[in-house]
Order: sequence, then structure tokens, then C-alpha cells
Amino acid sequence: MDKFVIEGGKPLKGTLPVSGAKNASLPLMAAAILAPGIHTIENVPRLRDVRTMAHLLRIIGARIDFEDGPSSVPSLVIDTSDCSFCEAPYELVKTMRASIYVLGPLLARFGKVRVSLPGGCAWGPRPVDLHIMGMEKLGAQIEFEDGYIVASAEKLRGDTISFPIRSVGATGNVMMAACLAEGTTILQNAACEPEIVALAQFINAMGGHVKQAGSDQIVIEGVDQLHPAKFQNIPDRIEAGTFLSAVATTGGDVTLTNLRSDHLSVVLDGLERAGFSLEIQDTSVKIQSEGRAYPVDMKTAPYPGFPTDMQAQWIALMSLADGSCTMTDTIYTNRFTHVAELQRLGADIRVEGNTALIRGVEQLKGAPVMSTDIRASASLIIAGLAAEGRTDLSRVYHIDRGYERIEEKLRLIGADIRREDEPLQV
Ligand code: UD1
Repeated sequence: MDKFVIEGGKPLKGTLPVSGAKNASLPLMAAAILAPGIHTIENVPRLRDVRTMAHLLRIIGARIDFEDGPSSVPSLVIDTSDCSFCEAPYELVKTMRASIYVLGPLLARFGKVRVSLPGGCAWGPRPVDLHIMGMEKLGAQIEFEDGYIVASAEKLRGDTISFPIRSVGATGNVMMAACLAEGTTILQNAACEPEIVALAQFINAMGGHVKQAGSDQIVIEGVDQLHPAKFQNIPDRIEAGTFLSAVATTGGDVTLTNLRSDHLSVVLDGLERAGFSLEIQDTSVKIQSEGRAYPVDMKTAPYPGFPTDMQAQWIALMSLADGSCTMTDTIYTNRFTHVAELQRLGADIRVEGNTALIRGVEQLKGAPVMSTDIRASASLIIAGLAAEGRTDLSRVYHIDRGYERIEEKLRLIGADIRREDEPLQV
């Protein structure tokens, strides 16, 4: 199993391009099922979750290849002409919950689908009841068989669906099902994330009629069929936020390019309130950091609020702040497994309910720590880069799920981080 070895304390300097968004790539890839033919999705990151989704699409019958596009930004070419196997097996769904994104497209195109229930998660319960409720409202019959959701419908019919809470996954999944349904579907209390807007734009590029994506009410006029399309994926706002937090925490002067600063407003605002100097353009942000952050209280919320996927990285930044502050996660109330690992590096953090109380310390000290999920790993890399001495981060397969060659990218801006093969301990 691989581990990262980080020698901390080196300021970060230079320019770094941001990759395509993981959380947009996965539903975009699933959406290609909706229209038989050859699709091209540009700016897809080469990371483990993308490979898992590609594996799932191949099981369903698609052909998928990466091609290097302009300035070696990778494109994914997906041929969904021969899809026929309408199933997402447990072996894949248990490794990546986003596999559930094939539920809507397979149901819409073939009228039947079997998708394994994802099961538990390290952050606590992550149910899929809203995905199922949405499919039922569109007229699907749902049964549960041997741990699988079995859905069928001769023809889906549009309806008004009001979500009790905002869910990115359920909004995207139901949008994909509704675009081939008969009549109009209205999604109320829909997720407004940029990844949902990108998905709607891809559906429209395929000939669909999705309106008002990005607001909390999305209107979808069903069409009889869709055609294949070419689409450019959006930049990864969480990868951008992670690198900005790394520079802020460690110190340095870095320009991130290939991003959308309008997708990062609340994170950029937080960094400015924490005292960091930013030069913000539409597609780039330059950050300079010379000293400790001012403490800034933060609370996660659905977009445009502060992303739960940036919560762990913000805690790493605030663990070295000049004072005390809180971080409350209102979306995943148990998502704090990184706190115990940050404590191993000397951070002073206490968790009460869904709030972390962070007392900034003057210095962190390197130590062996362990990844527990994608963003927890990112926070430990940030803390390791800022800490004095050596940090060994094990189980880095978590970070490979969501970040493209993170250690190579960080080395480009001067970080001392390398990947090593960790011998199995018996
Ligand atoms: C997506 C992101 C994930 C991010 C999360 C919240 C992907 C692949 N993953 O996950 O990185 O942390 O959004 O921004 O894009 N819920 C229900 N029932 C459901 C579905 C969700 O109760 O059927 C709840 C969840 O438990 C959670 C909240 O709704 O409390 C939001 O979850 P949701 O937006 O659905 O997250 P995901 O789409 O799974």
C-alpha cells in the first residue's frame, strides 16, 4: 500500500493548473448512457473514482477511452451504442457511492435497472431515499431484492417533486431520469451546485430541455430521445480550494489557473477574512501567505454556502490560526475522522456534536498519520506540509480517489512530498 512522506515547512511558490471536477465528471459520464452514440467529455481528471465509473460503464456495455486533448487536458470518449446490461453491482457501488448515478439514466433509456444499495459510510448514514422517492414520483415501480434497488417503468411521467432536503445526487439522478420522461418535471428545493448546472448543460447539449438549473427550482421538459454530444467539464472547485488552503497554511505565493473563481466565492471570502492576500480573476487566483491565519468561524451549507468537502481542509488551516474558532458541519454531522489524526500532529481541536472547536497552535510537528477519506487525507497533507519535520501519511488510496497526482502537483510548487510503497505490517 502506498504512503506519502512529507517533509514540512517549505513555502509553496509557482503556478498550478486546476484539474477537471471529479464530482461533475461522475454524473456527466453516467448521463452519456441517456443517448446511444459517441460522446466526448473534455477536461476529465485521471483519478480513481473516474476509473471506477468507467469500469461500471464498461460492465453496462459502453466503450470508454481517454484521449489527450489540447495542452494535454484529458478527454473521455464514451460510446454508449451497445449498452444493454442494466446493473450496478455491489462490488463497485460499495467502493464508490456515486455509482448510484446510473440509476436514473438506465431507467430512462431501458425502463429497468438494478443498482446495489451503497450501505454505510465512514461519515455516518448516507441514505439514498430521495433518489428512490424521485424515481417513484416519476412513475417507477421500486422493489428491494438481495440488497439491490430494482426499478422499472414502461414510460416515466413528469411530476412535481419537492425534496425535503437539498441533495446533489438525488437532484442529478432525478434530472437525468426526467429528461426522457413524458411531460414536465419540476424539481423543488433542488441542489444549486455548479456540478448540477454542468449536468443540465450536458443534457441540453444532447438535445434535452432543462431550465433554471443553478436555482432551487429546476424545470425539465421531457423529450423522446437525445443525441450524443461533446461537452467541456468544469474545473474542480474543491481541488482549487484545497491548494489555496495548502498555500495559506504553509506560506508562499502561488497562482492557480484553469479555475472558475465564481464557483469559489465563499471559500475566497473566508480566506480574505482570514487575512490572506488574493488576486482574483475569472479563471485564476493568486494567493500570498506570510503568516498565521486570523481565526474565522465557518459553517458548511449547500451551495452557494461553504462546501462540506472543504471542511477538513479549513480545520487544518485554522489549527495554526492566531486564536480560536469553530467549524460546524450541517451536512455530514459526523464527518470529523481527520480531527484525531490532526491531534497527532499537535493540533488543539475538540469536537462537540457537529462542531469542531479549534484553538490555533503556533506549530504542528510531523508524525505518522492515516487517511480515512478523500478530504480528510487532503487536510492531513495540508497539515503535514505546514508541520515541522516528517509526516508519513498512510492509506493514500483514499486521496487517489479524488485528486489527480496530488503529490506531483504539489512538488511543482515546491512541496517536499513523495510517494513510497509501504510494506505490509504483519
Ligand atoms: C455529493 C458529493 C460529496 C459532497 C456532497 C455534499 C459527489 C460524487 N459527491 O455527495 O462529495 O460531500 O455532495 O456536498 O458529487 N441525503 C438523504 N437522502 C438521500 C440523499 C442525500 O438524506 O437520498 C442527505 C445526505 O445524507 C446529506 C445531504 O442529504 O446529509 C446531502 O447529501 P448529497 O448532496 O446527496 O450528497 P451526495 O450527492 O451523496
